[in-house]
Amino acid sequence: MALLSNTPWLILAHLLVFLTTTTLAKVPAVIVFGDSSVDAGNNNQISTVLKSNFAPYGRDFYGGRATGRFSNGKVPPDFISEAFGLRPFVPAYLDPMFNISDFASGVCFASAGTGFDNATSDVLNVIPLWKEVEYYIDYQKKLRAYLGDKKANTIITQSIYLISIGTNDFLENYYTFPGRRSRYNIDQFQDFLLGIAENFVKEIYGLGARRISLGGLPPMGCLPLERTTNYMNGNGDTCIESYNAVALKFNEKMSGLVKKLNMELPGAKVLFSNPYFIFLQIIRKPSSFVCSINHIIPVVTSRNRTVASGGGDGGGV
Ligand SMILES: *[C@@H]1O[C@H](CO)[C@@H](O)[C@H](O)[C@H]1NC(C)=O
Ligand SMILES: *[C@@H]1O[C@H](CO)[C@@H](O)[C@H](O)[C@H]1NC(C)=O
Ligand SMILES: *[C@@H]1O[C@H](CO)[C@@H](O)[C@H](O)[C@H]1NC(C)=O
Repeated sequence: MALLSNTPWLILAHLLVFLTTTTLAKVPAVIVFGDSSVDAGNNNQISTVLKSNFAPYGRDFYGGRATGRFSNGKVPPDFISEAFGLRPFVPAYLDPMFNISDFASGVCFASAGTGFDNATSDVLNVIPLWKEVEYYIDYQKKLRAYLGDKKANTIITQSIYLISIGTNDFLENYYTFPGRRSRYNIDQFQDFLLGIAENFVKEIYGLGARRISLGGLPPMGCLPLERTTNYMNGNGDTCIESYNAVALKFNEKMSGLVKKLNMELPGAKVLFSNPYFIFLQIIRKPSSFVCSINHIIPVVTSRNRTVASGGGDGGGV
């Protein structure tokens, strides 16, 4: 069977290897932080223009509902949750259709348009990463009240934490507004973001997270908006190679950070999941991925979008 969506399967394969080489304990929940690549509808509940609560988004989701996922169907955490035998999708924490009894087996705090940098979430008035952590703290309180400390703590420590964020820091922030560019060169900006990533992982570790998958950047010079606006260098078909080079460099640094975190944080298993090459293959040879591009389609079909768009793990916005 053709892969339904390669990025989540790739991450899943990594996760499985990672779990079997450590411990085979059951995964009680999938807990998600990040941007549009993994947002399950939180932006619908906040005041931002960046929403996806209209067709054709959600066309292929359960009930054909536009849930706020930046996809015609599921996003990667949904597939991963299903593969772990949990609910076939991970609900958004702010979605009023769900409550703590649902969130006990999976919850998503992601917000489309956000980034590591506070300045990134400010651009479209979305949920900053620090605020995602506040929601997570709030979630823990509710979980303990609902299940008691013992069960709640098991969920907190045994869950898989998926983190997919970073593209917007470059596309929506660094390359769009002069603020960060006047302060940091690209190398320094990468280090600034990685410093935030490090603090973030340490913070959720401090709160109990142990099995953490930190996603790298996709070839962000080839994301649909970047391609269609790259008319100067072609007909919208070419990628901005300099952005891709930045993504590669960032991923290399992030992989180093993950090694460091594994050494510094006792009991933590941090995994670097790199979506770069599989994504590039999908872009360059879509025919070899029969049904794989379902989470890229909405970007192409969305109307009147003025900001960078993405989709797929690590994809922008
Ligand atoms: C969650 O929602 C369900 C269905 O709407 C309801 O039956 C249940 O009591 C709620 N649980 C909590 C803990 O609020
Ligand atoms: C982002 O904003 C929060 C809340 O104001 C603040 O606590 C945090 O230090 C800021 N992060 C950075 C990296 O400036
Ligand atoms: C898109 O923009 C055009 C021209 O500005 C406008 O007429 C149209 O109503 C817009 N469509 C949507 C879906 O917002």
